[in-house]
Amino acid sequence: MQVAIDGPAGAGKSTIAKKLAAVYGMTYLDTGAMYRCIAHCVLNQGGNFENTDDIIRIAEKAAITFDGDRVFCNNKEVTEEIRTPLVSRHTSDVACIREVRELLVRQQKAYAKDHAVVMDGRDIGSVVLPDADFKFFLDADVLERARRRKKELDERGIVKSLEKIAQEINQRDDNDRNREEGPLIQMADAIVIDTTGKSIEQVCDAMRKYIDGAK
Ligand code: C5P
Repeated sequence: MQVAIDGPAGAGKSTIAKKLAAVYGMTYLDTGAMYRCIAHCVLNQGGNFENTDDIIRIAEKAAITFDGDRVFCNNKEVTEEIRTPLVSRHTSDVACIREVRELLVRQQKAYAKDHAVVMDGRDIGSVVLPDADFKFFLDADVLERARRRKKELDERGIVKSLEKIAQEINQRDDNDRNREEGPLIQMADAIVIDTTGKSIEQVCDAMRKYIDGAK
């Protein structure tokens, strides 16, 4: 079985995808972490975000692996480092490059061939798993998404105002929606769930109803 989950930043995709994968004994693949790893490598290797060739060269050499919730890039754990605001900001710079997307999409498709997967991202239902058994599009009010992100940052000791976070989320969504390659889109065959005001359990239950109902 393949489950595709798309949606804007902070809609709760990864938490819910993880839970759903656990319920059905499937593997979870966090495709956002893969794009984040490339941005992190570019920052670490002194690459220039204005230089597409530089980024492609770095992406081609990046070996990204997962061990449960932990993320590794070139054999070094980067689980925490890829979640900093700096990496978040630069991720859309690498995610709009066609060659980078082709490289990562190829890896994601290969992974889905060998595993029953729940994947979350922006282009999963449209590009990576166009024939997924279930496609969900999770959305939420931008202020609620900013509040969730603030809570996460607060827990990690990163201080940032709600307004600034909301502004960055809007900017990131705009970039993701308006790029030419693999933009964030709501597919016609996706089940749309607005997670505003809903708990993780409520959203998970709603998704399970669709999946179990179709069995
Ligand atoms: O999901 P997450 O917020 O970690 O994704 C970080 C960024 O990675 C997104 O804002 C987007 O630019 C990029 N991304 C993407 N395609 C995906 C997953 C993430 O372009 N499938």
